[in-house]
Amino acid sequence: LLPYVVWGFARLMDDVELRSAFSVARTSSMEGGPKMTVTFDTVYINIGGDFEPKSGVFRCRIPGAYYFSFTVGKFPHKDLSVMLMKNRNEVQAIVYEENAGEERKSQSVMLQLEFGDTVWLRLHGDPRYALYSNTGHYTTFNGYLIYPDTYGYQTHRQSPAHTSQQPLQDRRSAFSVGRTQSIVGVDQMGMPQHQPVGFDTSFVNIGEDFNVTEGVFSCRIPGVYYFSFNVGKLPQKTLSVKLMKNHLEVQAMIYDDSQGEKALQSQSLMLALKPGDTVWLYSHQKDGFGAYSNHAKYITFTGFLVYPNLPSDDAGQADKKP
Ligand SMILES: *[C@@H]1O[C@H](CO)[C@@H](O)[C@H](O)[C@H]1NC(C)=O
Repeated sequence: LLPYVVWGFARLMDDVELRSAFSVARTSSMEGGPKMTVTFDTVYINIGGDFEPKSGVFRCRIPGAYYFSFTVGKFPHKDLSVMLMKNRNEVQAIVYEENAGEERKSQSVMLQLEFGDTVWLRLHGDPRYALYSNTGHYTTFNGYLIYPDTYGYQTHRQSPAHTSQQPLQDRRSAFSVGRTQSIVGVDQMGMPQHQPVGFDTSFVNIGEDFNVTEGVFSCRIPGVYYFSFNVGKLPQKTLSVKLMKNHLEVQAMIYDDSQGEKALQSQSLMLALKPGDTVWLYSHQKDGFGAYSNHAKYITFTGFLVYPNLPSDDAGQADKKP
């Protein structure tokens, strides 16, 4: 009986205590000034109370891997520069110059947080900068705990076989990576075909299923995964980035040069994967194509396991394994 009691307790921890999620909105515009932290006046969700809307700061209570996303609008005739910050460090940016029209853009990333780490949005302090927020065009900020770091999970491994009692490493997979250099297509002569986009910064790589230098995620745990990617457009270049599953194109992001100087695009989707499936980004490598990035990491790629297959699903899929 004892293992089930332990399990039951652990489940309770999982379900009740190990929860943290927020979703907030700002209903008024904000101009750059000495107070650079973006604050929020509307709270949709604040499970665990870890987000403080008045100060605009999320403070980590449960160490673990979190997914964050934010959407901001550009104020007409102002520049826009909003950074996602972890403590005092810039993680991810949305930046637009004045000549761009009224635009709304989103970014997302996963971060590994320790107790007390803060995550917040910083607007550039110069009054030339502003973010636009108005009815129906709110600035929004969301975050939630995907995988808590836990010690209690150790007990699961000693428990007898039970559908949900797979070891932790068989139930978790997540990556979030950034690229600090732009990609510029060149004449294709001698270039390897369909080279994945490589990355140089790793925010999260739980399970080590993402090969950062190669730029390829290889599925270890069968199940349903969520993927998102953010890419900047280079001036005078066509942006063409595709999310690939094995050698098939799943989702394409294509913008030709007529669409703005430096646009930032985001896309996301879910995929069912089996062991050995690969997921990667492909940027068109011909001359005239490109994707923008700099130190603020405009090119980011995130994925995580949402639901592992149940053992019964695994049995069904075993036949199809290559
Ligand atoms: C990543 O891929 C490269 C190239 O295929 C390989 O040499 C390297 O060992 C891989 N890294 C890991 C951690 O698997």
